[in-house]
Amino acid sequence: MSESEDKPVQAEYDAIAAHNRIAKFYRYRTQYGDKFFGRLATRLKLGRDTEVLDLCCGTGAVAAGLASFCKAIDAVDGAPEMIAHAFADERITYHVFDIGSPDFAEWIRGRTFA
Ligand SMILES: C[S@@+](CC[C@H](N)C(=O)[O-])C[C@H]1O[C@@H](n2cnc3c(N)ncnc32)[C@H](O)[C@@H]1O
Repeated sequence: MSESEDKPVQAEYDAIAAHNRIAKFYRYRTQYGDKFFGRLATRLKLGRDTEVLDLCCGTGAVAAGLASFCKAIDAVDGAPEMIAHAFADERITYHVFDIGSPDFAEWIRGRTFA
């Protein structure tokens, strides 16, 4: 058995690199349904004073859908190309971090979200 056959597929899959490559096509995928965000906002008890953290936000489809239900959203993704193609909204601040990195741990320390 070769060395690559030995490794689990997941160990070879680089999600951030893969999403950098597909970013410009991402917003053309099937979108979340019309009722989804209202139901999610209710389930999460979001309000006008709520600050939300969207981890692995991609192009911000979830953040953009929730933005009108809350005060502000910090949206984080490791793929800069996904952020470059993200939905713009004044309530969303996008950040590029690998969430497994020390830089992200430093950024998140002391912050609180809904
Ligand atoms: C399937 S997409 C989902 C995007 C978004 N949440 C949505 O529902 O449209 C997964 C995202 O996770 C990001 N991602 C994967 N591993 C990551 C990591 N370690 N740190 C930050 N982002 C990561 C990828 O770059 C990609 O944009």
